[in-house]
Amino acid sequence: MPDAYILGIESSCDETAAAVVRSGEQVISNVVASQIATHQPYGGVVPELASREHLRAIVPVVRQALAEATQTYDSIDAIAVTQGPGLAGALLVGISYAKALAFALDKPLIAVNHLEGHIHAVLLDLSQNHLSQNEEQQKGNHELQFPVLALVVSGGHTHLYLATQNRQSWTYENIGHTRDDAAGEAFDKVAKLLGLGYPGGPVIDRLAPHGNPNAVKFPAAQIKHADRRGRKDGRSVELDSESNSDHSNNDHPRFDFSYSGIKTAILRYVESHDMRPAVEARRTALAEIPKPRVEDYLAHCDARTIDLVASFQRAMVDDLVGKTLAAARAYDVATLFVTGGVAANQELRQTFEREGAKEGLPVHFPSRPLSTDNAAMIAAAAFPKFQAKDFAAIDFSAEAGMALR
Ligand code: KG4
Ligand code: ZN
Repeated sequence: MPDAYILGIESSCDETAAAVVRSGEQVISNVVASQIATHQPYGGVVPELASREHLRAIVPVVRQALAEATQTYDSIDAIAVTQGPGLAGALLVGISYAKALAFALDKPLIAVNHLEGHIHAVLLDLSQNHLSQNEEQQKGNHELQFPVLALVVSGGHTHLYLATQNRQSWTYENIGHTRDDAAGEAFDKVAKLLGLGYPGGPVIDRLAPHGNPNAVKFPAAQIKHADRRGRKDGRSVELDSESNSDHSNNDHPRFDFSYSGIKTAILRYVESHDMRPAVEARRTALAEIPKPRVEDYLAHCDARTIDLVASFQRAMVDDLVGKTLAAARAYDVATLFVTGGVAANQELRQTFEREGAKEGLPVHFPSRPLSTDNAAMIAAAAFPKFQAKDFAAIDFSAEAGMALR
């Protein structure tokens, strides 16, 4: 089959993105217009503002992605767009534009699940990719060993999928998800409550190495959902809306996450240690610095705050790695993927690599720029659908709560 150039469009949350990817593997261009500055004053994404910003950015972003790839509307082979999950109003901007393009250009349109995009980001070949040439070749040659266990860990999701491949297409079984807050949401909420700004993940990532990760202990009970009947081996015995089976049993054990407890524990720690006034002073001081550097954050944090940040990150990393590896053992998987915004986290990467190696389990991540939301991952995930001629009907719509199967 000759090379296929797919234009990907992504607008599910607070990034307007477009990219051109060759045959699901090579990123030719990758443009991401971030809305962080718009949402920063509110400490989180405001859906209404997100839709408006997408509308403003979508045309120039797509044009730039084509220009950087030296492609034209006519030369591309297909258009891929995120159908869900995400903010409905935000998704509709990308979908409407992709439909208009596909209709006007008479090109195939491919609807992609955002979570499948994150998983396929791992397969992309970027020069920034930290993987060794050997690993790149292995992936490029499709010598990937299945089943793959994929942890998708982002601002909206903490999901574990068992992925298998049938001819070209991938199918997924959800074997775990968060019962409350997503991991990235916990990073964002904790940073906000410590006066560190938004988004919290990258700030906490940079501050944590300066603190003592063992200073504050978060008992396992604090990172468990109150109504979860967790078991010692990390399994959960509850039902899940995405689960294909009615019951979680020994053949289909579930590995769920829960991060609302740790956020509450941090809030209690802040209150019981009288840290509020310092938090407010930090919030005000940092808001006046346009782009704070790590030195700025450090200058406005006392040792107790940095230790709290380091301890929080350690607890999150240990929980994510522990449960994921327990799931990998239970399902006897051959390969592990870790992807989504939180997969950019240094300590998470290092811990997964170290602990995976102990079990002889190959662990793959996307490059750090491709861990967070982008459209290259959407174009990559569209490629097997392009090969299978699995095209979207022109009347398909956004699916805010779309499940991955
Ligand atoms: O995948 P993503 O860009 O958007 C969603 O689909 O949610 O993920 C964004 C999330 C945010 O919660 C952000 O704080 C978190 O990923 N994040 C990180 C890091 N970079 C982004 N969390 C921890 N460490 C990081 N380096
Ligand atoms: Zn995402």
